[in-house]
Amino acid sequence: MSSVEQTLSIIKPDAVERNLTEKIKQYFVNNKLKIVKEKKIQVTKEEAAEFYKVHQTKPFYDRLCNYLSSGPITVIILEGDNAIKEYRKIMGATDPIKAEDGTIRKKYGISIDKNSVHGSDSIENAKKEIEFFFKN
Ligand code: CMP
Repeated sequence: MSSVEQTLSIIKPDAVERNLTEKIKQYFVNNKLKIVKEKKIQVTKEEAAEFYKVHQTKPFYDRLCNYLSSGPITVIILEGDNAIKEYRKIMGATDPIKAEDGTIRKKYGISIDKNSVHGSDSIENAKKEIEFFFKN
């Protein structure tokens, strides 16, 4: 069964810095994920901490928040059939070393921290994450 969903993509500082935004967006188009909204922003460490709150007990939390706020990012709402799962498939595993061939993280990721992209992991989190960046 398929259903039209929205999910949040973040093109992280390492990818924006290397001018990979357009190349990464090509993966979306090629995989029938429509770009509904998009903006380039920079978040504060406090905003990053709020966004990644689900990870607050993890040992990498502080590093993660410093990293997300370290430079410009592009946040994008994607829409398509089973968008959450489909986008996670083309992102690949969190750690680029473990990501499958043909995925964004395999091609562009530098490390588990600098893994180029973020994607929502569930319908509930997609709603929260979209709301976080696109309130109005
Ligand atoms: P992301 O999908 O943005 O969600 C949380 C991020 O934490 C993840 O990508 C990684 O970049 C980062 N991270 C750093 N260390 C780890 C780890 N050991 N396990 C999972 N995520 C990690």
